[in-house]
Amino acid sequence: MLRDDLNPLEPVALDAPERRTGALLAIDQLGKTFGSGVGQVQALSPTDLYLQEGDFLCVVGPSGCGKTTLLNLVAGFERPSSGQVRLRGQPITGPGAERGVVFQQGALFNWMTVLENVAFGPRACGVNPEAARQRARQLLQMVGLDSFADKYPYQLSGGMQQRVGIARALANEPGILLMDEPFAALDQQTRELLQEEIRHIWRRERKTVLWITHSIDEALFLATHIAVMTARPGRIKAAFRSPFNETEDPLVAATPAFTAAKRQIVELLRGESRQAQAQESAA
Ligand SMILES: Nc1ncnc2c1ncn2[C@@H]1O[C@H](COP(=O)(O)OP(=O)(O)OP(=O)(O)O)[C@@H](O)[C@H]1O
Ligand SMILES: [Mg+2]
Repeated sequence: MLRDDLNPLEPVALDAPERRTGALLAIDQLGKTFGSGVGQVQALSPTDLYLQEGDFLCVVGPSGCGKTTLLNLVAGFERPSSGQVRLRGQPITGPGAERGVVFQQGALFNWMTVLENVAFGPRACGVNPEAARQRARQLLQMVGLDSFADKYPYQLSGGMQQRVGIARALANEPGILLMDEPFAALDQQTRELLQEEIRHIWRRERKTVLWITHSIDEALFLATHIAVMTARPGRIKAAFRSPFNETEDPLVAATPAFTAAKRQIVELLRGESRQAQAQESAA
């Protein structure tokens, strides 16, 4: 049900203790400080955040507020300065196949074909070559690239490469997908098509997703939940449930409810972005 008033997004406490029970991803007092002494930068304030199975959380926030830091901590690429991350109750101590990661761009192996790129994860986890290739073919079909299986990444457009990246992230059947601005480098049309594709995939597979974006439209269109972060050191300033990811209307972004929701988030972000800019010019 889309509310058509001026604040259509329903607030939600992502750190509520009741969300912690049975959470797929439990982030407890997670903080990160880089460097030491005068060069020390506190990127992430101690943060609590719980994701349930099937949640699609989009995180928005000003540049430099700690979004990538948060994602890297969950991916296990960085070690926390405080707190911990647990997936299905198991502490995360490094990268793992149960977390599929997609970056802003690149990150494909240029010396491997598209099919080999997608089959790489399952192969590394011990799946036999034929089964891994078969799974890779299915995933390439799902992202509409089955006819490009034998091409190399450099023979593909940026949008196609991102689709390969998504197929590769899904290949290990991860419990959670971690996406850091995966569509940021794409043109608007490609971006919108891929957003639709992600929606289909999410509806079919109900994967749990942690998605970083600068696009409020993207967040509203895709997410079940949206978190707005403060300027550095980042913390969650507010979070909402988004009603738009279930709608079938392809032009939902043109509705008054969507515009009002966008305004709600823009207003929260505006002050934070100013503060982030001031931090950058003072640095
Ligand atoms: N490896 C690192 N060493 C030192 N400082 C770092 C490191 N990684 C990030 N930082 C600092 O931590 C802060 C948060 O960075 P982060 O990349 O998480 O921001 P972000 O929210 O992802 O920004 P953007 O929206 O521009 O991608 C920044 O001030 C950044 O300079
Ligand atoms: Mg970032």
